[in-house]
Amino acid sequence: MFEQIERVPGDAILGLIEAFKKDPNPQKVDLGVGVYRDAHGNTPVMRAVKEAEARLLKNETTKSYIGSHGDPRYGQAVLELVLGAQSPVLAANRASATQSPGGTGALRLAADFIKSQLPGKGIWVSDPTWPNHLGIFHAAGVELKKYPYVDADNRLDFEGMLSALQQIPEGDVVLLHACCHNPSGFDLSREQWQRVLEVVRERRLLPLVDFAYQGFGDGLDADAYGPRLLAENLDEVMITSSCSKNFGVYRERTGCMIMIARDSEQMENVRSQMAIVARENYSNPPAHGGAVVAEILHDDALATVWREELTEMRDRINGLRRDFVEALKPYGLDERFAFIAEQRGMFSYTGLSPEQVDRLRDEFGIYMVRSGRANVAGLAQENLPYVAKAIAAVVG
Ligand code: LMR
Repeated sequence: MFEQIERVPGDAILGLIEAFKKDPNPQKVDLGVGVYRDAHGNTPVMRAVKEAEARLLKNETTKSYIGSHGDPRYGQAVLELVLGAQSPVLAANRASATQSPGGTGALRLAADFIKSQLPGKGIWVSDPTWPNHLGIFHAAGVELKKYPYVDADNRLDFEGMLSALQQIPEGDVVLLHACCHNPSGFDLSREQWQRVLEVVRERRLLPLVDFAYQGFGDGLDADAYGPRLLAENLDEVMITSSCSKNFGVYRERTGCMIMIARDSEQMENVRSQMAIVARENYSNPPAHGGAVVAEILHDDALATVWREELTEMRDRINGLRRDFVEALKPYGLDERFAFIAEQRGMFSYTGLSPEQVDRLRDEFGIYMVRSGRANVAGLAQENLPYVAKAIAAVVG
């Protein structure tokens, strides 16, 4: 039977990891997959994580299952991180946390929940969006449509987005990126979030907020502005949160599906369904990453260390954005690429064409996604002039 099965190309983002490894060019630069890198190009284990792991190794007493909702200490910590410790949503007991295998796992929970509990409802994603959003909702059998987000001149198309949201059928789900929009790096201002809230409320849409980069934009609380605004002003909101990036625990698969309902009674109903969705997918989530995060966030001293490390990472990325625009100055390209300093998070939509991206790879060993998305964290002071020169060569 397998003779009928066709080979397909690998994932466009994950495939870059292998391609980069194989490239013998000593000057090669990896601006591909969204992982943080320090000034030496490494993705180190954070100090707070190392300390938490040492404690866990010493104190862990069992490897038994942690249940479909995962570790309640982790769930509570993530709810407070995402919604704010003083959130009226938490005080009203309207929010439920289900630990998931990464943010991707949370998105799959959301997709399966929509399919089974909100039959006939479609999902609307930004154009462009993280390509795996398309894969996840397609795999779950949820109908997917797009709203505009970036215009032909590589700028945020907020008016286009808003007028598209105004046309969405009542009850459909709209996927919003909380911060550090992947792939574009263009985020909504506070005023724009307010306008999105109004349309979502008026049209009775269900927001699903993907929150994979909390702390990478402007700060832990500043980045949570959108999801908190929606959660505090709407009856129903879904949020998928990830600790992959802000705790650097990518391979530990540590995410959370947050469901917010009108009251605690409805929240318990929704929560009971979410346990079934998790059970049918993978039964129980992996425990280690969640245990690490809970250990850190429930210990003031460790949480302070973690916050400092996260601030260092954020500052480094935002500094690189500014320095990169400077590095383009000698080529007269600083104005053309000035938006890079304004974008937020790891990613920049550079506006480079797929052909220009191919030339960067083939002629210079510089790797980025063919959509023109670059991971700014892959830049370093040493490679900035090289990357600037290469970009000047391919756009010239
Ligand atoms: C990315 O967009 O590069 C990251 O979110 C990693 C991934 O899984 O694609």
